[in-house]
Amino acid sequence: MSDLIAPDLEDYARRSTHPEPELLQELAARTHAEMGCPQMLTGRLEGRLLALLVQIHQPRLVVEVGMFTGYSALSMAEGLPEDGRIVTCDIDPKVAGLAQETFDRSPHGHKIEIRMGPALKTIQALEETIDFSFIDADKVGYPDYYEALLQRTRPGGLILMDNMLMDGRVLDPQEPGPIAIDRLNQLLAGDDRVENVLLTVRDGVQLVRKRG
Ligand SMILES: C[S@@+](CC[C@H](N)C(=O)[O-])C[C@H]1O[C@@H](n2cnc3c(N)ncnc32)[C@H](O)[C@@H]1O
Repeated sequence: MSDLIAPDLEDYARRSTHPEPELLQELAARTHAEMGCPQMLTGRLEGRLLALLVQIHQPRLVVEVGMFTGYSALSMAEGLPEDGRIVTCDIDPKVAGLAQETFDRSPHGHKIEIRMGPALKTIQALEETIDFSFIDADKVGYPDYYEALLQRTRPGGLILMDNMLMDGRVLDPQEPGPIAIDRLNQLLAGDDRVENVLLTVRDGVQLVRKRG
């Protein structure tokens, strides 16, 4: 969780947002109990945003970069049409078991395909046109993921990116992660190929639409 918004207001925003289904609540609880760095999980506020955007946009192919235990992938799968698909990837073998076990218990889990391995390779291997993507992995990789996904995204397609405020470190970026994210934010603001808005939800979510 980010400290950008006062904790009591963040909690208020969460409580004023529709609750996630029970299976996602259970997944969040198990992630906190069983995994290191459970704060990486997107959670109720951002998960509901992703689910709602997918429901509105009705994509056929969603690509997720950075699955972790599958919270955001399963949130997006809820809103997908029956013939819609999510390709999600991760490099950490420890997360795949809990993610797949949870997908198998969900009526939407069959829409999700896990590909283990570096995200850029997974994106480059995709032959179909992408409708919707969510980037939430190693921050220095974001610029490459963005370019690779944008090339494969249909006009009108959406790309979302998490942690675009880096807990405020984009204001005076010193380390490679915040430097990469700050540069990408500047690039997006002037990128004629897209329209975008940096939403101050949680730790900052870039919402990008490919012009068409
Ligand atoms: C912030 S977590 C993702 C959280 C997830 N979206 C959720 O809502 O629960 C970032 C994940 O990206 C993965 N990751 C890091 N570098 C990666 C890479 N090069 N390719 C694919 N996944 C990567 C990490 O192993 C980690 O599980």
